[in-house]
Amino acid sequence: MSYSHFLADDQFNKAQLLELINLAKNIKQSPQNYQQALAGKSVVMLFEKPSLRTHISFDIGIQKLGGHSVYIGQQNGKLGERERVIDVAKNLACWSDAIVARVFNQKSLEELAEYAGIPVINALSDLYHPCQALADFLTLAEQTDDLSSVKLAYVGDPNNVSNSLMLMALTLGIDFTLVCPKEVGISTAMLAQTKTVSAQSGAKFTQIHDIDSIGEQTAIYTDTWISMGDDKDTQQILKTFMPYQVNHQLVKKTSARFVMHCQPAHLNQEITQELFDSKFSVATEQAENRMWAQCAVLLTLFIQ
Ligand code: NVA
Repeated sequence: MSYSHFLADDQFNKAQLLELINLAKNIKQSPQNYQQALAGKSVVMLFEKPSLRTHISFDIGIQKLGGHSVYIGQQNGKLGERERVIDVAKNLACWSDAIVARVFNQKSLEELAEYAGIPVINALSDLYHPCQALADFLTLAEQTDDLSSVKLAYVGDPNNVSNSLMLMALTLGIDFTLVCPKEVGISTAMLAQTKTVSAQSGAKFTQIHDIDSIGEQTAIYTDTWISMGDDKDTQQILKTFMPYQVNHQLVKKTSARFVMHCQPAHLNQEITQELFDSKFSVATEQAENRMWAQCAVLLTLFIQ
């Protein structure tokens, strides 16, 4: 594959994404074949924000591949405050073979990638969450016969998770509908990226504000209405977003077969507890697949 980092969803083409999904499936099916794949490699995990799934799935995934990981949490404050990102990058590269980073600004990832000279993986930024999206499409590939016939709707706050989901869906040729209040539509820059990708793949992108016109969908995805680092008025957010809650009525209206959530879920806000705990929810499968998808990313970056 012709990339050295895993930073943003618009850097991949369909063939590369399908290759990653297939590799993830293979690792999941026969992890014993990959036990030494990262032998002698050390991966630093640099997290500016809290994490459960990303931290643990990377840590255990790296160990499953025979590698070694070191976690640096929030004790050093925001990147760039105590020392320059460029110096963090150069220092980490002296000792480690790759950096997995969760950051406030996508720009920090780009700087780490530019100055470290070792692979950098986006473990969530303000703009993207590509590891999550890859796990999500691995999950949909497992649950459906034909990934390209899936129709996917994201309902709620347009954010890092929906950006990655949308760009990866459209790259894979999957029709994508974004349903959100009109006060919070996607940014002009993201809309331009979306249009470019859908023009290339032929997949249809729709943004609507009237939830009643969502139409039939294979899967409905939602995420928190207030992301980490957002400085929003909670009462105002609840008022604006409550009509966009994902619940059993919406599943019925869309004939959706699956409900997806990256977690942590804010039960009875963006999704009802009843639905989150129901047979429609594949949130646990998505969480499990984080590890296999990330193993595929690590392996691909190390073996090229
Ligand atoms: N949009 C959420 C995702 C958490 C995994 C956030 O950035 O906080």
